[in-house]
Amino acid sequence: MTTDRTRRVEDLLAVPSFAPPADFREKALVNDESLYQQAAADRLGFWAEQARTLHWDQPFTRVLDDSNPPFYRWFDDGRLNASYNCLDRHVAAGLGDRVAYYWHGEEGEERAVTYGGLLADVQRFANALKDLGVRKGDVVGIYLPMVPEVVVAMLACARIGAVHNVVFGGYAPEAVRDRMQVSGAKVLVTSDGARRKGRVSTVKDNLDGVLGEVESLEKVVVVRVTGSTVAMRPDRDVWFHEVCAAADPVCPAEPVEAEHPLFILYSSGSTGKPKGILHTTGGYLTGVSYTHRLVFDLHPETDVYWCTADVGWITGHSYVVYGPLANGTTSVLFEGAPDYPHKGIWWELVERYRVTTFYTAPTAIRACMRWGAELPARHDLSSLRLLGSVGEPINPKAWTWYHVVIGGERCPIVDTWWQTETGAIMIAPLPGVVSTKPGSATRPLPGISADLVPGDEGDDSGLLVLTEPWPSMLRTLYGDDDRYVRTYFSRGARTYLAGDAARRDEDGYYWVLGRVDDVINVSGHRLSTAEVESALVSHPEVAEAAVVARPDELTGQAIVAFVTLRGGAEPSDELQTDLRDHVAARIGKLARPAQVVWADELPKTRSGKIVRRLLRDVAEGRELGDVTTLGDAGVLDRLRSQLANTG
Ligand code: WT7
Repeated sequence: MTTDRTRRVEDLLAVPSFAPPADFREKALVNDESLYQQAAADRLGFWAEQARTLHWDQPFTRVLDDSNPPFYRWFDDGRLNASYNCLDRHVAAGLGDRVAYYWHGEEGEERAVTYGGLLADVQRFANALKDLGVRKGDVVGIYLPMVPEVVVAMLACARIGAVHNVVFGGYAPEAVRDRMQVSGAKVLVTSDGARRKGRVSTVKDNLDGVLGEVESLEKVVVVRVTGSTVAMRPDRDVWFHEVCAAADPVCPAEPVEAEHPLFILYSSGSTGKPKGILHTTGGYLTGVSYTHRLVFDLHPETDVYWCTADVGWITGHSYVVYGPLANGTTSVLFEGAPDYPHKGIWWELVERYRVTTFYTAPTAIRACMRWGAELPARHDLSSLRLLGSVGEPINPKAWTWYHVVIGGERCPIVDTWWQTETGAIMIAPLPGVVSTKPGSATRPLPGISADLVPGDEGDDSGLLVLTEPWPSMLRTLYGDDDRYVRTYFSRGARTYLAGDAARRDEDGYYWVLGRVDDVINVSGHRLSTAEVESALVSHPEVAEAAVVARPDELTGQAIVAFVTLRGGAEPSDELQTDLRDHVAARIGKLARPAQVVWADELPKTRSGKIVRRLLRDVAEGRELGDVTTLGDAGVLDRLRSQLANTG
């Protein structure tokens, strides 16, 4: 059977486009063009209608204030609370016993968290935060593994108007320190430890070495996850379960202005300094609930939805927490990795929870392809009716494998293009309406206006831009309005530059080609070359470093680091390992270079600027581009022979 399927994948690779299956279309929330037409005819009216699906404590009368572009304000005379919208209104509607999350632990533990249970936990922790001195507008850091408490912590912040700043659990303590410092966090919520593939890491102990440097930090709340012993500092550290037990169980949600900040999420940009992307309450919640409902064709009474992203990324914020909860969804929340305790665990869980809607990243699909179609074939995947992809362009081979082997050829695939900055999905098919083409995110959603502007490639591609503001857009870069304007609006205050190149075909479908800036996409995660370079040069033996990406079959892109050593230091395999570990320790494992190339010198222009374009040519073994700007063209030949030796 699996060989049949492999053959089928090969056959279908020739098919350019897939129409929505008739029975899917029949039951879909949207199955004609009317929503596109409605949004095109009255964009603001359309968004107002979407916003009104939320509960507003004070209804808004103004939809968009665009008097000071690119600082846009949405629904700004309205008041609402995100936690109320995610919890209380469902409980008030009699859905308190509905499961919000089937949590599944690494060792097979299970917890069904209901909307009623989540509301009770969130109220207690919201009061606990208040008891610790957290007030509306204060920043609360969250650094937790994939346990239900991470959702509790986020919603507790939202409940009292505190601004959360979640740091992905895979980031290193120093990255946590930096993000707490620049956001001025008052409290950090973390855990004693975290489990990863059967191993326990001592999260709190690791943090203790750096948290002293965060001046603004007053309290650290520790969730007991692994039972590891931790050294609690009596003046600073408290246990999550103790503060919750001591807190009042009732905490009414505080209505905040629509433009009140909901969260900051740091993401890599072109420089070494991460960007604090700021999202606010009303517009963000409007965007994520609308897109989650329509892109995933949500039927909340019958669907079981699973987005495999970690809550520490924007995909987790928007499509594990806020979108699904705002819509009263039942989701799966999985603590673990896709290959632990075995490489078929995802499909075991799809069968176990009868998952209907599954949303993951191309890199994960490619890993599953490599592990073989036999693993999913051992499980009953017939509950699935819709599949999603996010994070990077999906190659047609992986798309088709996903379609055949996981989707059994019945499930539409929604390839969703968006970014931390956009808050919510921007380009994706409405699955009951739009035919899909493997590798294309298809058309902008109703309410979203995209276009291409000429870049400097000189071919038929262009720079992907969004030409009208949208409710879930970032509002600024935290504490740096100038950088916000400079980074995204260099072509005018109505033209949002995404930083991606794209093509548009004769049907108006967008084909995203990848980043045009110094951002690298490893396994759907964003890293900046400058960030990795500064981690490298912080190593005592390194004089200079330049980082580029090369294509990788599994991770999409992989990091290649060109390194020149300080006088006296000698290249060696040990040093290579040491440097890779050093980057992992400074930033996180996902930033570990795949390859370190020793260089006597780096190719530079006469004015001393490193020419990364040529390093990319070297890393990919390509013909060199224009070398006339180089100070010394011989550098590249020497580099090539060094690459051959270290390859
Ligand atoms: C960058 C944003 C928001 C999702 C998680 C990543 C790339 C994302 C797609 C897609 C082609 C994609 C783009 C984008 N990207 N989704 N479906 N097709 N490229 O969020 O870390 O903010 O990264 O990811 O290059 O600019 P992010």
